[in-house]
Amino acid sequence: MTLNLNTIKFIDAGTKAFISGYDTNISDTEETGLNKCSTIRHRLLPLYLIPCLLFTLALFSVPSTAVSSVTGDCSNCHTMHYSQNGTQSSGWGGSGPYDALLTNDCVGCHSSTTAVTIINNTPIIYNTTSPTSILAGGNFYYAIADDSTGHNVSGIKAQDSTLGLTPPGGSAMSSQLTCAGEFGCHGDRSTGNNNIVGVTGAHHTDDSGGITGGTVGLSYRFLNGITGKEDTDWEQDNINTSHNEYQGATNFSTVSTISYLCGQCHGNSGSGGFHNSLGVGSASPWLRHPTDIALKSTGEYANYTTYSLVAPVARPDPDNVINTAAVTPGTDIVICISCHRSHASPYYKLLRWDFKGWPGNAATNGCNVCHTSKN
Ligand code: HEC
Ligand code: HEC
Ligand code: HEC
Ligand code: HEC
Ligand code: HEC
Repeated sequence: MTLNLNTIKFIDAGTKAFISGYDTNISDTEETGLNKCSTIRHRLLPLYLIPCLLFTLALFSVPSTAVSSVTGDCSNCHTMHYSQNGTQSSGWGGSGPYDALLTNDCVGCHSSTTAVTIINNTPIIYNTTSPTSILAGGNFYYAIADDSTGHNVSGIKAQDSTLGLTPPGGSAMSSQLTCAGEFGCHGDRSTGNNNIVGVTGAHHTDDSGGITGGTVGLSYRFLNGITGKEDTDWEQDNINTSHNEYQGATNFSTVSTISYLCGQCHGNSGSGGFHNSLGVGSASPWLRHPTDIALKSTGEYANYTTYSLVAPVARPDPDNVINTAAVTPGTDIVICISCHRSHASPYYKLLRWDFKGWPGNAATNGCNVCHTSKN
């Protein structure tokens, strides 16, 4: 996804017009020092416009061939000295200066104290108030109250008290999960333990030519090497005519699938792994629930023909899906996120529905979206 700065022009905080969520003041809900920076009430500061303009000119006045989708005010997101009138702007995070001269860090920009999940075109993945319509990846809100509903990401929540640093199916990490970098899910893990270095350049990458997985910026949601097709509202509207198209494959070895990404930590190898034939099997009867296999075109699976956001499937060719609202048994593919969210969800183990007590809890039965005879 590319950054369209026109859509994220921040409004002077003095006006009533500021979009609620950007006036965030995240309370100290967590022991790990969730940065209190999150007062992101952006102002247009003439002082900062000058260096920014020069910066812009320097970068983008190069004739025609310099392609960038970035337009708008650099000062919305960058501060040259992390100082304004000798102090910090109330619009910035409070624990800077930040890497890449940013006004905040990953969590600061992508969180809100309101229930709103897209603010000035910033996808919000951590609301401190129960979010109204969670985005496709889920929302860390739920992990605050209950460890078992989410990934424990540094800056949001202390390390998991039950699982510690070990991803089930994989081997222990030497440090807590971060958004990006060496211990992150986003960005390039080979760049060392730094969030920004892990995604450098991604926010400014023009991906209008397609998600190729070639660089972090050209990868699906900055997940390095993963492909797919990005819904413009991150599935906030939750409708099956416009949604993400995930990359699947009918083998465990294709490295660009969304399930391969999960397997990088949860076992792309080894008999304990969740995403390889040793750990999962290669045909029925399976050892663990299979992923990166096609739905069968026969039996109960043949009835899954209308795409469901309760239990979505991936495509072998996400860029060329003819009817996004349809599912083709025999072709479309089971993935980890057919059943799970990625960040956190209201349910046990990041599930997309409340499986734990089903059918006793009379909740939605997502399993029968595919297992249509098991209801
Ligand atoms: C200064 C604010 C800011 C900071 C800091 C920031 N982001 Fe973002 N991020 C944004 C905005 C705005 C967008 C929306 C871009 C768009 O789609 O137009 C975005 C988009 C994204 C997306 C979605 C990309 C897509 O394809 O839809 C991801 C993933 C992301 N950021 C991750 C991160 C990570 C990881 C960090 C820290 C390394 C980070 N962000 C730091 C503002 C920020
Ligand atoms: C909506 C927020 C936002 C705005 C506005 C913005 N940037 Fe950035 N910029 C980021 C984020 C986040 C990063 C760090 C993560 C990354 O590189 O993806 C970044 C990184 C950078 C970098 C280092 C990485 C690279 O791509 O070289 C430069 C240089 C930069 N920005 C310059 C600018 C300039 C100049 C402007 C104004 C034309 C600007 N930015 C406007 C969010 C923004
Ligand atoms: C960078 C490594 C990494 C990646 C990639 C990753 N995970 Fe995890 N995952 C972990 C770690 C570490 C834990 C255990 C600690 C925790 O819960 O934060 C975990 C825990 C979990 C749990 C159990 C949570 C709990 O609290 O009981 C689920 C479910 C899960 N991951 C699913 C996924 C899915 C689905 C994906 C792909 C979308 C994925 N993970 C990708 C590292 C990762
Ligand atoms: C996105 C579709 C999908 C969803 C959702 C789904 N499954 Fe499956 N499941 C499959 C497919 C496809 C197979 C493999 C069928 C085969 O090879 O015969 C499978 C296999 C299984 C098997 C093993 C059958 C065997 O022959 O070894 C069980 C048990 C199972 N699923 C239970 C569940 C449960 C419980 C849920 C809900 C938590 C669930 N599934 C959700 C598609 C799905
Ligand atoms: C068919 C639905 C389904 C699919 C597909 C699926 N999971 Fe799960 N997963 C579950 C359910 C349900 C649980 C809760 C525990 C249980 O019932 O086994 C769970 C639990 C987990 C756990 C927690 C295990 C623990 O020890 O606490 C992790 C980690 C996990 N899944 C990761 C993955 C990854 C990675 C993939 C893809 C390779 C994946 N899941 C695919 C349904 C699924």
